Amino acid sequence: MTISQFSVDAARERFSSLQKGFAFFDAPGGTQVPDEVGQAIANALREASGNLGAPYATGRAVEAILARAKDDAGRFLGCSADEISFGMNMTTLDFAISRAAGRDFVAGDEVLTTQLDHDGGVAPWVELAADKGMHVRVAQATDELTVDYDDLERQLNERTRVVAFALASNATGTVADAKRICALAREAGAISWIDAVHYAAHEPIDVQEIGCDVLICSPYKFCGPHLGVAYVRQELAETWRPYKARPSAATPVGRRFETGTLPYELLAGFSATIAYLDSLGGLRVLRDYEREIGRYLIENLPENVTLYGPQTMDGRVPTFLFNVDGVPAERAAHRLGERGLGVWYADNWYCVALGPRLPETSVRAGLIHYNTRAEVDLLVEELGALTP
Ligand SMILES: Cc1ncc(COP(=O)(O)O)c(C=O)c1O
Repeated sequence: MTISQFSVDAARERFSSLQKGFAFFDAPGGTQVPDEVGQAIANALREASGNLGAPYATGRAVEAILARAKDDAGRFLGCSADEISFGMNMTTLDFAISRAAGRDFVAGDEVLTTQLDHDGGVAPWVELAADKGMHVRVAQATDELTVDYDDLERQLNERTRVVAFALASNATGTVADAKRICALAREAGAISWIDAVHYAAHEPIDVQEIGCDVLICSPYKFCGPHLGVAYVRQELAETWRPYKARPSAATPVGRRFETGTLPYELLAGFSATIAYLDSLGGLRVLRDYEREIGRYLIENLPENVTLYGPQTMDGRVPTFLFNVDGVPAERAAHRLGERGLGVWYADNWYCVALGPRLPETSVRAGLIHYNTRAEVDLLVEELGALTP
C-alpha cells in the first residue's frame, strides 16, 4: 500500500469514537482506539483462562496470546520475540529495568539525559542516582529546541554508564538523531536507552538499525491498550539480575523484566493493534500521510499563532506546541474543546528540564494518521478566530 492508497476515511470507520463529530488532536496524550482492539480484549476475557499454566484448552489460549503478542512486538520493533518485555506502561518498565541495569553502578557514575526528555525516561535515573550517589547530566537543547549534539558529546565521559533520551519529544515533536546518539554512547562505553513512547506512534522503528541497547514504548499512544513494551538487547539483558519473584519464568530473557501476571487481555488487544496498523500499510505509509497533513497545518497556521520548536516537518513528528497571541493556553484549549476540537494545555509537559525554556503554559495539538485535512482546516479556522 502507498500513501495514495491509504484511505483515512476507511481507517476512521473502524473507530466508534471518531463517529461523533469531535476532532481529536490529543494523540500525544493517548490515542483513540479502533473497535477491533476492544473486541479482541473482550474476546480474550471471554475465551482464555485467568493465567498461564492452566493445563487445558483455555489455559493454552493464554499461552497463544502471549506468544503472538511477543512475536508482534518483535516485528514492530525489529528484534526477536525473546527480547520483548511487557509491563504496565513505559514509566513502570523504565523504573524496573533501570534498577536491574544499575545494580553495579557506583557513586560518581553518570547518566546523560537530554533537555527534551519526558520525566518517565529521566526520573528512574534521578532516583537511582539518589540511592547510589550518581550524577544525572542534561544535554542542552538548541534554540530551535532540538538536541544540541555538541553539548551531548561534550558531556559524555568515562563515567557515563547510560545515555538516555527521548526519540521524539512529546512537547515539541522534535525527533532526535538516535543512530548518532547511540553511536556516541557506544564509543563512550555507555548503554543507549531510548524512550520511544512519542515516536512509536508516527515512525517505524528498527532497533537493530538504530543500534540501541534498550527501547521502551507504550501502545496506548498508537491506537492500542494501556500497556508498556520494552526491548532489551539479549546479550545485555542476560547479564542483569532482575528484581522478580524467584519461581517465576526468567527465560526467554524478556521474561526477566516481567513481574507477576501479565494483562493477557491487553496483550490480545496489542496484537489486534498491530494487525490494524499492518492492514493500513504500516507506519511507513502512515508516516507519509502524517507528514503531509503536518506540513499542511504548518503552512496554514494563522498569524496569531506562535509555534515552538522546529518550524517545518523536517526533524519532527506532527505534534505542535504553540500559543495564540494574547490568549492564555487554558482559555484557548477550553474554547477549542467547546468548538469540537480536542487539544491539551499544560506547563512543562512532563519535560522537567525543558520547562524553563517553554512559556508558562502552552497548547499542544497532535496529529496522527486518523486526523483529516478537514479537521486541520477547522483547527486553523478556530485558532484564527481566537481573540485576546
Ligand atoms: C515521551 C514520553 N515518554 C514517556 C511517557 C510516559 O509513558 P507511560 O504513560 O507509558 O509511562 C510519555 C507519556 O506521555 C511520553 O509522552
